[in-house]
Amino acid sequence: MPLIIGIPKEIYPDERRVAATPGTVVRYRKMGLEVQLEAGAGLAAGYSDADYQESGASIVTEAATVWATSDIVVKVRPPMALPDADYDEPLLLKKGAVLVSFLWPAQHKPLLEQLAAREATAFAMDCVPRITRAQKMDALSAMANIAGYRAVIEAAEHFGRFIPGQMTAAGKVAPAKVLIVGAGVAGLAAIAAAKSLGAQVRAFDTRAASREQVESLGAQFVELEFTESGEGEGGYAKEMSDAFLLAEQTLLARHTEECDIVITTALIPGKPAPQLITSGAVVAMPTGGVIVDLAAEQGGNCALTERGRVVEKFGVTIVGLTDLPSRMARQSSELYATTVLNLVTEFVEEGAVRVDLEDEVERGSLVLHQGALMWPPPTRPRPRTGAPLPDVKAQAKAHADASASATSSTMTLAMGAGAALLLGVAALTGPPEFLGHLTVFLLAVIVGWHVIWNVSPALHTPLMSVTNAISGIILVGGMLVMAGGGLTTAAILGAVAVLVATINVAGGFLVTQRMLRMFRK
Ligand code: NAI
Repeated sequence: MPLIIGIPKEIYPDERRVAATPGTVVRYRKMGLEVQLEAGAGLAAGYSDADYQESGASIVTEAATVWATSDIVVKVRPPMALPDADYDEPLLLKKGAVLVSFLWPAQHKPLLEQLAAREATAFAMDCVPRITRAQKMDALSAMANIAGYRAVIEAAEHFGRFIPGQMTAAGKVAPAKVLIVGAGVAGLAAIAAAKSLGAQVRAFDTRAASREQVESLGAQFVELEFTESGEGEGGYAKEMSDAFLLAEQTLLARHTEECDIVITTALIPGKPAPQLITSGAVVAMPTGGVIVDLAAEQGGNCALTERGRVVEKFGVTIVGLTDLPSRMARQSSELYATTVLNLVTEFVEEGAVRVDLEDEVERGSLVLHQGALMWPPPTRPRPRTGAPLPDVKAQAKAHADASASATSSTMTLAMGAGAALLLGVAALTGPPEFLGHLTVFLLAVIVGWHVIWNVSPALHTPLMSVTNAISGIILVGGMLVMAGGGLTTAAILGAVAVLVATINVAGGFLVTQRMLRMFRK
């Protein structure tokens, strides 16, 4: 008998996502699984029952049947009981079945007990370790990415003005100023979305590593003069001291006063959200401003946020919605369903469930195994998305430095040998003053080469101005020598010097102009 995978309809109020799409149903079928779906489970996300049927799923009208007959149940929200539903989801699960969904085990102890009584094996999508191999199963990041984008769209809806700057016949419109607090997955997505709408964006995070990511998206990183590292274990952020948070509140209040839109995403996993935007800061914000508090579910980063609600206080709209991914249900269902499919692929082999307790991803996300509590998993260092990225720039610089110094020392040696040879020939054959000039010339070549080779690329433009100036001196010198008259060796050399220096000066201007053109719109 093939394993049956079941997809019940989400019963949490206003949850529009679904844990499988017609696309992932096809993939489950290819794995040899039978797929059954509760009627209407995908409707709110834009998938009809007919779409699923075409992909090979059978439609079941009763939720209880899906729960009671599936070997693997996949869903979005943790199983729950609702007063107006005539059944308790966890109690319906078939004995010994596998459940895959968001579970938040730390907050749902009674649910774990109910599932354990059903001898369930449960995988929590929120516990998938954030390691490179598990990125394709990282549902939290996929949802946070959508939430960050959607936060900007919500802000734009409540902000009664243009976001990009405009020059119109009726007057000049300044671009909206946006502040993003917390540059994790959601924060970076919000920065990218706000930038693409044409806003002026600034951002703050306690992890030093986030600066490079913020700046690479074209936003300004806000500076806090306070020496305390925000880097926790395995690249996670750590909780900051009260003194730091006070300094941060003051800094952010200075910025919120100037900003039209504030999006807050600051969070330490497993802790209540730090309160960073005080009521005073809200009062001082420009009238018509908008705050979108993504951390509303964990208590909020803003003192005046109301969880799950949009409120207006002191002329500022504060958005505390906690269902942002669900508001883009089709997109988030597509991404979520793919992460679920990727996890199921890990533990289903040849049509049977085979949980590998040695596998870091399976073990990390396993909360119950045949009724036995497996959470929390043994701790392993877990680098995560927000962790310091491998310092690619530093590595490239070290590599470049190493090869540059090797090349530079070979060149110096070669030039030294050439210079010694020329000096020897000149000493034997030339007049005494020629030997003096040649020595100065050769030394200038060696020193010049050495200096220019070590100039960092960022300084090449000023360097070009300096070489242009030097070429100018050579031009004048060459012309003075030529003014001596006659077709002497000196006059010919002077003419050559004038020609080469002219090429250098003209070329320098040409290259500079091309570089400047790159920065013009
Ligand atoms: P994340 O862990 O990737 O990022 C949080 C960031 O906050 C980290 O970069 C951390 O360094 C930073 N941070 C911590 N303390 C800070 C402080 N005092 N000041 C400044 N930055 C600080 O988390 P992710 O995935 O980006 O999620 C962000 C928030 O969005 C979470 O609260 C999450 O629950 C929420 N979220 C909300 C949704 C909604 O519908 N409202 C949907 C999805 C996520």
